[in-house]
Amino acid sequence: MEPLAQRPDGLTLLRISTPEQGEPWRAAFAGAYQEVWSEPPYNERFSSEEAGAVLPRALRIPDQITLLAVRDSGVVAGFAMAFPVGSKADVVRDIRGLLPIDETFYFAELGIMEQWRQTGLGKQLIELRLQLIDRTRFTHVILRTSATRNAAYEMYKRLGFEDTGVYTEVASRRNDGSFRTDRRLFMAKVLGG
Ligand SMILES: CC(C)(COP(=O)(O)OP(=O)(O)OC[C@H]1O[C@@H](n2cnc3c(N)ncnc32)[C@H](O)[C@@H]1OP(=O)(O)O)[C@@H](O)C(=O)NCCC(=O)NCCS
Repeated sequence: MEPLAQRPDGLTLLRISTPEQGEPWRAAFAGAYQEVWSEPPYNERFSSEEAGAVLPRALRIPDQITLLAVRDSGVVAGFAMAFPVGSKADVVRDIRGLLPIDETFYFAELGIMEQWRQTGLGKQLIELRLQLIDRTRFTHVILRTSATRNAAYEMYKRLGFEDTGVYTEVASRRNDGSFRTDRRLFMAKVLGG
């Protein structure tokens, strides 16, 4: 496991490479994941089993980049994942013809726990993922964000992501127990060589 940075607020940014390295963080990650996505505009409800499966699943994807912001005490304050879009079939279906699939990375699952927000952590996890992508193989990054164009939208724009004007619906179970879709916007960035 690779510590990438130490922040003045006591958080360590880790890059996790294998499911074995992820195991000690799996439960804390799952709790953070459930909490972050239960908030508006997503209002998603994941069971403990579903949330607990997310980290090991991500760590098995070839060429994945998984970052955690943690404290020694075992707290997970933030998380961010990325992998070649070819491993994400529903996104490939939506963007085929728009971007070169084999050369496009996908940014998934960026979440910062509420008490750690607005201190630059989200931005740092985006910048680190951008730095860690192999630019000899990948030319573009794509992500989905809420079509409500909230603070995350503005953040991505400032970091050089463009509004593609392409939308998709993502189905999920919601806090009220219903299974519904919500509307997401694709944002894309061209990587410099
Ligand atoms: C969106 C999210 C990741 C931002 O994380 P964060 O650590 O608070 O972000 P940062 O502190 O790095 O802020 C980045 C920029 O966005 C701005 N920003 C962040 N949250 C904001 C808010 N609620 N309102 C206004 N501006 C905000 C910051 O001022 C900063 O601006 P700058 O680029 O001028 O410096 C976090 O709020 C979150 O996890 N939200 C819930 C999950 C989510 O929406 N994830 C992204 C979905 S794709």
